Amino acid sequence: MEHRGWDDLRRDCLQCRRCGLAATRNNVAFGAGRQDAEVLFVGEGPGENEDLQGEPFVGRGGQLLDKMLAAVGLSREHNVYIANIVKCRPPKNRDPLPEEQEACIGWLREQYALLRPKIVVCLGRIAACRLIAPDFKVTRQHGQFFDKGGTLMMGTFHPAALLRTPAQKPEGFADFLALREKIGQVCEHTVLVYPDGGEGGTGG
Ligand code: URA
Repeated sequence: MEHRGWDDLRRDCLQCRRCGLAATRNNVAFGAGRQDAEVLFVGEGPGENEDLQGEPFVGRGGQLLDKMLAAVGLSREHNVYIANIVKCRPPKNRDPLPEEQEACIGWLREQYALLRPKIVVCLGRIAACRLIAPDFKVTRQHGQFFDKGGTLMMGTFHPAALLRTPAQKPEGFADFLALREKIGQVCEHTVLVYPDGGEGGTGG
């Protein structure tokens, strides 16, 4: 394992040519949020807006994610970090290929090693299958916490899936409520901050 700090890691990642996605990207979406976060969210890979802006979850799905986060006192500004399994956009938003995930996962591993999160939330099937279990089924296992070597991992619906199937939003939001409760149990310094100015202390 290399021991780069955040600045060197970001700089090196922005120059990455480990897979074919480098040829078609506009920008690397390295990650966003607090480098002292105890909660890490992991999505699949950048879409069009993320590729143009170089930041994860800034399109319609990202807006929904930000809304759900805000409702439980979380935000990339205050207390979470957000990254993806692959940092460059797959053409036409296809699923990242196994070899692209394999080529890219080292960046996420280094982000994880610097962050040492208490909780990892996988947004959607690709992240959950990669980080929790290869046969993870989001519809059946969402909202459950799995202890992986002392880190709690949970999978939930991808925000884009919730936009496509709004009927799943209540179940998806229940996972965020369960997350807030878990943060209260295991996170030591996460302070929940609500957009109306209130602070909820740790957890709910
Ligand atoms: N979907 C993802 O999985 N990640 C993003 O950053 C944007 C959309």
